[in-house]
Amino acid sequence: MYQLIDGKAISATIKDEVKNEIAKLKNLGREVTLAVVLVGNDPASAVYVGNKKKACEYVGIRSLSFEMPETTSEDELIKLIDELNGRDDVDGILVQLPLPSGINEEKILDRISPLKDVDGFHPVNVGKLVIGKEGFVSCTPAGIIELIKRSNIDICGKNCVVVGRSNIVGKPMAALMLRENATVTVCHSKTVNLKEVTSKADILIVAIGKPKFITEEFVKDGAVVIDVGIHRLEGKKLVGDVDFDSVCEKTSFITPVPGGVGPMTIAMLMKNCLTAVSLNGK
Ligand code: GUN
Repeated sequence: MYQLIDGKAISATIKDEVKNEIAKLKNLGREVTLAVVLVGNDPASAVYVGNKKKACEYVGIRSLSFEMPETTSEDELIKLIDELNGRDDVDGILVQLPLPSGINEEKILDRISPLKDVDGFHPVNVGKLVIGKEGFVSCTPAGIIELIKRSNIDICGKNCVVVGRSNIVGKPMAALMLRENATVTVCHSKTVNLKEVTSKADILIVAIGKPKFITEEFVKDGAVVIDVGIHRLEGKKLVGDVDFDSVCEKTSFITPVPGGVGPMTIAMLMKNCLTAVSLNGK
């Protein structure tokens, strides 16, 4: 029998914890503010940004919305970021990705002050994560650590295999699992005999962006399986990178899609806004 890891419930608990901390800060006269920047008309981005603003409202964080047209130039966006970096009443800055094609994403993310980088994408924060210094950690991998720990799963000494090496998920995930003393292997599209590697994992974290790619032959008996993928099939059903029905009976713990990793990202963004306050001094 496997246990489902309930990301909806765990993310709700984290948001309530943040809400309590925000209320304490408010009692001390300290307001916490997140600036949310959306450029262009990507419909999915608009939904994500809307959900982030709703979460802010729930936990008591003030959100400032900056919506800019598709035609915005790189210089205009940099000007806004510089202004937000300099504002004492702004604790965190989030620039929703993807940006319109004329804007260099890396240049924009590098411009955000590392002390306000609640997404944890700035090279300074990535570097701090790797060398074990306090900083912002990318929300999805940080959320996965919470899912594992709050399900009372031990990480120390376990074989952890991460499938996918993106800057946003795979690489920070591997660094976090290493920080938790797991033995970590990172697989990717060039990995030879992927099945052989994944089937040695005590904890298997999958972020490859291919629907139902991981089937039972990839999974060891009793493994913990974390599915970062989310895809809408033609019949509108949402599925992950893991073929849940094929794999679930082999696992000890598994995240569902939807309702597993997904809800954790925004909860951790809220938590990172608290980190912004402690990094910048109350
Ligand atoms: N687009 C998709 N995921 C993310 C995220 O975590 N942060 C930002 N800023 N944009 C995204």
